[in-house]
Amino acid sequence: MALFQDWFAAARAGETDDPTAMALATADATGRPAVRMVLLKAAEVRGFVFYTNLESPKSTDLRANPRAALCLHWAKLGRQVRIDGRVEPVTDEEADRYHATRPRLSQLGAWASRQSQPMAGRFELEQAVAAAALRFPFGAVPRPPHWSGWRVVPERMEFWQERAFRHHDRQLFVREQGTWRVQWLFP
Ligand SMILES: Cc1cc2nc3c(=O)[nH]c(=O)nc-3n(C[C@H](O)[C@H](O)[C@H](O)COP(=O)(O)O)c2cc1C
Repeated sequence: MALFQDWFAAARAGETDDPTAMALATADATGRPAVRMVLLKAAEVRGFVFYTNLESPKSTDLRANPRAALCLHWAKLGRQVRIDGRVEPVTDEEADRYHATRPRLSQLGAWASRQSQPMAGRFELEQAVAAAALRFPFGAVPRPPHWSGWRVVPERMEFWQERAFRHHDRQLFVREQGTWRVQWLFP
């Protein structure tokens, strides 16, 4: 985690694209994989947190098969970090705290979006956002019950550093009975 924090700080300082963007891979009960981008909102010893709709396909996958893999790529630094492990839901208090920091229109969007369901057109989203704004015209917008976070608790983390002529560095950290073992890998 200390190495991750070092690399993440360097990415925040030196990366022009959003350094929190990461690919999230899940698989459904039949083993069918799916991958999409999400934003890393907390990187702690306990794990890596992102927020989403709990009725979305990714959340359905995670309930059926509570394992996930993440991949962050920081192109300017020539670095990739791969993480995988079990997932767990974040607590309601944690989700409430993060939700409260979001812009009001993002909060209303979370109420309005039936993420990944078919939609007739943009107007249907705009209507749903307007309905949410009427529902919560004043004061704080509460967190929707269908919107929260997932934490990927790392079991393996691989750090890839680009080097000349593709002689890259790769270090794989594997958690075994609570301690991390490090293994170099051929590039
Ligand atoms: C850079 C980027 C960041 C994104 N961040 C999130 C996010 O944090 N949470 C989220 O639910 N969707 C996020 N999305 C949208 C997802 O990639 C995806 O379209 C959506 O969550 C539906 O995924 P699903 O149908 O697999 O559940 C992001 C998309 C991009 C391109």
